Amino acid sequence: MKNILITGGAGFIGSHVVRLMVKKYPNYQIVNLDALTYAGNLENLTDIEHASNYEFVKGDITDAKLVSRLFATHNFDGVIHLAAESHVDRSISNPLEFIQTNIIGTVNLLNAARMQWKDQFEDKLFYHISTDEVYGSLGETGLFTETTSYDPRSPYSASKASSDHLVRAYFHTYGLPVVISNCSNNYGPNQFPEKLIPLAINNIKNNKPIPIYGKGDNIRDWLFVEDHASAIDEIFHNGKNGETYNIGGLNEWKNIDLIHLLCKIMDKALHRAEGESAKLITFVKDRAGHDQRYAIDSSKLMKELNWKPSLQFEEGLEKTVDWYLNNQKWMSRILSGEYESYYNTQYGDR
Ligand code: NAD
Ligand code: DAU
Repeated sequence: MKNILITGGAGFIGSHVVRLMVKKYPNYQIVNLDALTYAGNLENLTDIEHASNYEFVKGDITDAKLVSRLFATHNFDGVIHLAAESHVDRSISNPLEFIQTNIIGTVNLLNAARMQWKDQFEDKLFYHISTDEVYGSLGETGLFTETTSYDPRSPYSASKASSDHLVRAYFHTYGLPVVISNCSNNYGPNQFPEKLIPLAINNIKNNKPIPIYGKGDNIRDWLFVEDHASAIDEIFHNGKNGETYNIGGLNEWKNIDLIHLLCKIMDKALHRAEGESAKLITFVKDRAGHDQRYAIDSSKLMKELNWKPSLQFEEGLEKTVDWYLNNQKWMSRILSGEYESYYNTQYGDR
């Protein structure tokens, strides 16, 4: 494959995928299509922005004409589709944006790929990046597998589930070559500080309360973002047409336990007395419809494509803390402007 479109490449996971592809495959032309919403940040890509095999295009995937023009001018062989509205809390306050980007935007890309490839599908691939949240919420035991029934419970996960169904519909109806992966919670450098880990790091650093929803007993399965990017690379190149792959690190944590571990790492990094950061933990009103537990079985990916995560959680968290503490300018630019007003609406009264 030569010409690859990556959507959402200025966001958290997308920027790690773009970097990996640009550096690892100098013969590929990588086009990053991103609308630069509040979550998109070209600062995430300054180290590769001048690479000869990289092009950034600012554009919105909900704009069908723009998307089909881009396909017509670039002759893409493959698509790795990450662009999305990604934050569950925002989907609760504004579902429509999620419907537009995650569903309509995905259909625009599917249509454009179909039109360009005109049934000549050899060596073509539409790779859709999705989430474990489409499977709903687990009880105390069990893991999500690729055959778990869909049961999305937030506007975000419902919009992602819908896009997954549409991608599969284009495979069955039109024969479009597709692959889908559903990944667990990512963490690492460049994550927008509305998400639990970077939000907590920033609040601890600034001696602000760490808001924990409900009792803090919800469970998430955490994966370092570069490990997600390496899984995407593997699946893009070696995944089977029409298949789904679950991606996760077998790394379940109760939110409150995760935050205690993070506080311990922050105490050390900030040369504070042990237990100092944990004093900032504050229990707040629960998220509406808060899914209790996610946990992913990624044995298919591990067995069939030989993928495995590279980092232990504590090591990954330490790396993440170091990155945020050494990139305060990145954070302070985000903390001004749009993010600030969102943050005040979300947490102002708590
Ligand atoms: P993010 O919010 O950090 O980034 C999303 C990117 O998409 C941003 O750069 C944004 O500008 C861009 N974008 C949004 N709307 C757009 C539009 N209409 N047109 C073009 N670009 C648009 O998200 P993320 O956390 O990096 O997630 C990326 C993908 O991975 C999403 O599809 C998400 O559902 C999926 N995913 C995320 C996680 C996670 O833990 N963050 C886990 C599993 C799957
Ligand atoms: O599982 C994959 C999903 O992980 C992705 O599809 C989403 O795009 C991504 O945002 C993430 O969703 P979560 O809702 O799990 O992530 P978030 O960081 O928002 O929350 C993690 C857990 O922490 C969740 O149980 C809610 C809780 N939480 C979150 C925030 C922001 C808090 O207790 N306090 C907070 O302030």
